[in-house]
Order: sequence, then structure tokens, then C-alpha cells
Amino acid sequence: LMHRAFRASIFHCIDDPGAASSPAACEYFEDGLLVVRDGAIEAVGNAETLLRGLQPATRIEDFSGKLIQPGLVDCHVHFAQLDIIASYGTQLLDWLSRYAYVEERRFAAREYAAQVANAFLDELLKNGTTSALVFATVFPQSADAFFEAAAERGMRLVAGKVLMDRNCPEELCDDAESAYAESQALIERWHGHGRLGYAITPRFALTSTSEQLEAAGKLAADYPDTWIHTHLAENPDEVAEIARLFPERRSYLDVYDHFGLLRDRAVFAHCLHLDDADRELMAARGGAVAFCPTSNLFLGSGLFDLQSMAASGVPVGLATDVGGGTSLSMLRTMGEAYKVLQLQQQTLPASRALYLGTLGAARALHLDEHIGNFAVGKEADFIVIDPQGSSISARRANAATSVDELLFSLLFLGDDRNIAATYLQGRAAKGQDSLS
Ligand code: GUN
Ligand code: ZN
Repeated sequence: LMHRAFRASIFHCIDDPGAASSPAACEYFEDGLLVVRDGAIEAVGNAETLLRGLQPATRIEDFSGKLIQPGLVDCHVHFAQLDIIASYGTQLLDWLSRYAYVEERRFAAREYAAQVANAFLDELLKNGTTSALVFATVFPQSADAFFEAAAERGMRLVAGKVLMDRNCPEELCDDAESAYAESQALIERWHGHGRLGYAITPRFALTSTSEQLEAAGKLAADYPDTWIHTHLAENPDEVAEIARLFPERRSYLDVYDHFGLLRDRAVFAHCLHLDDADRELMAARGGAVAFCPTSNLFLGSGLFDLQSMAASGVPVGLATDVGGGTSLSMLRTMGEAYKVLQLQQQTLPASRALYLGTLGAARALHLDEHIGNFAVGKEADFIVIDPQGSSISARRANAATSVDELLFSLLFLGDDRNIAATYLQGRAAKGQDSLS
């Protein structure tokens, strides 16, 4: 039986603060206490109040001067693209051929996949990311390697083998039949194993034949509690090519809907070039969107319209999309989200940015029953943010006159140096923890 308490400033969201930053959506305890029993949240509140009721034997970790908040949740990222992050000079389709497809071939080797998966997950933890929805590669052994590394760490992760059977190098092609069979074997091995979940992962409609999309749709119907994970309407050339390949479909989203790939637990990365009808359909079917600001800027894809998406009622979570994205830091990603919205005369208060990377992301992934904030009974995945982590963030923090101001500055100045510790189910996964 493990009973522990953590004392620090504590911030978490209980709902979407929205563009107007409703203060009722968030809780902040200047001198807070987070109480954890057997890996789950037992209580959160003011330290003085909670300390009075605490059993004397409970171990208390003192993080005074630091800020505890829920573990960060990355709604879309490619583990196999870790080593091609920040590759120069092209937009999506050229970037895929020049860099992504070249690197992903190496993941046929299980050993190589395992090595990158371990490095990738360590980077996530270092950056305070405790959960993610992850693309592997077309090779099922790369998904196995990833799930093994994930299980070892006890992180809550959802991932899947990529399905792609056209418009890509021969060595990266599966087919409709193997897509079904290999995904099915992985689902049976990993879906619901500990904290792991499986995502049926057609790369995008450009690289799947109709036969393969149909097979993916059959999987999605046969295993209704798995996730679906793909890309949608990222780049103008991609969107034009989809229209050429599927002339009978009203829109790019309609292609996925036609094949049964738009349902609850379907998550679509990007969604930059949708119309109102698409957003309404997405909302009606229960799909969700991963907003990938660093990737959208880096690949010159476009600006994500958060206001329209939120107005349509589609859940939105934040995502890094590494290697198209340029940082695994969800703090940095929030800062770039702010800038993307600035260019559209939209705004993003710090509280909402943090929401999009925690509870909002958990909702988009249908994981909010387990993670996303400090509601009693949820898994105790949390991070300890140290505003003094770098000299510049320290100077800015010392000049801040409110918690909002401090949090906002961390979206731009914060990175892995400011993540003092990352906890999974109440145990330190990274950084200093004298008691574990
Ligand atoms: N669309 C299809 N594949 C990819 C990928 O690997 N990265 C990004 N950003 N978009 C994609
Ligand atoms: Zn992606």
C-alpha cells in the first residue's frame, strides 16, 4: 500500500477554460498538496487543510517553490521520426519521400526499432509527457518494440502499426490482407495490456488503396474499442491529390467516413483544410482532432482554426507531430499554438493552452476517465515544473506578478530543463525523487 503526498503550488483544469479563460474551469492552490494512494489521486487541495487530516505515517515530498500539474498528453507523434526531426527545406509530400520514408525503412530491424523506442519514451518523460497517441511504422515488429518499451515504463500510451499500400516505396508497402491480419495480432497482444491501447493506423488516404481502407474499416468495426489514428487535410497538394483519387467523395473527411473510419475514438492529425460540413460531420460521428502547431508552421501547411473547430463541438487536443513537428516539448508546442492563433486574431490564454495539453487532450483521446487532471481516483501521472530551470525562465518567473503571467511565460521559455520530475502513477519516472 503506497500512500504519499506532494507539496507544491498545484494547477489543473476541471473543464475547458475557453478563449475567455473562465477561472472556474481551473483550480490553483498556491500552497497545495497532492495526495496519492496506490498510484491514484486520493485528494488535492490546500496543504494546510489536507495536512491536518493526513495519517502521520504518510511520506511527504516537499516541492515548495515549484509547480505540480497533470502529466502532458501528446495527441499525435511519430516515434520512428525521432532522428529526422528538423530536416530541411520541403513541404509535406516531398518531406515524406526525402526524409520520413527513408528513415522508416530502418524499422524493419526490431533491434533498431527498440533502441529508438526507448530513446523516444525517455525524451517524452524528460519533457513531462506521460501519455501519447503514437504512429509506429508499417513493420509490425516496430509496433511490438514500441509497446514493449512502453510497458516497461508503465506509461499510458496508444499506438499502432502503420497501414500503407500505395504511393510509397515498395519496402514500406503492406497490403489489405496483411494490414488486417497484422493489426489484429497486435490488438490481441497489446490492446488493454496494462495501460496500453491499440490504434488502427492508416497513414492517410493517399497511401492506402480503397481495399486497404475497407480492411481498416472492418477492423474498426470488429474492434470497436480500439482507436483510429490518421492524418487529414494537412497540406494543399495532399488535399488536391485526395480529390483526384476519390472523385466520388464529397471531401477528404468523407473518404474516411465512407470506409467506416470516422467514429468515436478516431483521431485526425492537422485538419487545416476542412469546411463547416466536415466539422459538423466530425462532431456528429465523435471524431477528434490533433492540433500540431510546430509541424504546421515547419512544413508550411497552414494555420489551424481552433475557434471554428471548438465552435463545432469537435474535441481538440494538442500534439507535437515530431518529426514534422520540431519539438517534443508540449510547453514549446503550446507557445507555438499561441502564435498560430495570433496570426488569425484568435487568442490562447495559458490556462487553455495547458488544458489542450492535459484534460482537453485526454478528452480528445477518450482517456479522461483515467488521466488529464487531479480528479479523485484518476491515475497519478503528474509533473513538477521548476520555473528556475533556466536562467531566462527564472528571471521572467521572478518578475511575474501573477500565476497566469508565470504560466504564460513558461509556454515560451519553458522546455525540458523546467521539468524537474515526471511521475507515473505516483512514482518518479524521471528526475530527482529522494523517497522512491
Ligand atoms: N501525412 C502522412 N504521413 C505523414 C507524416 O509522417 N507526417 C506528417 N506530418 N504528415 C503525414
Ligand atoms: Zn503526423
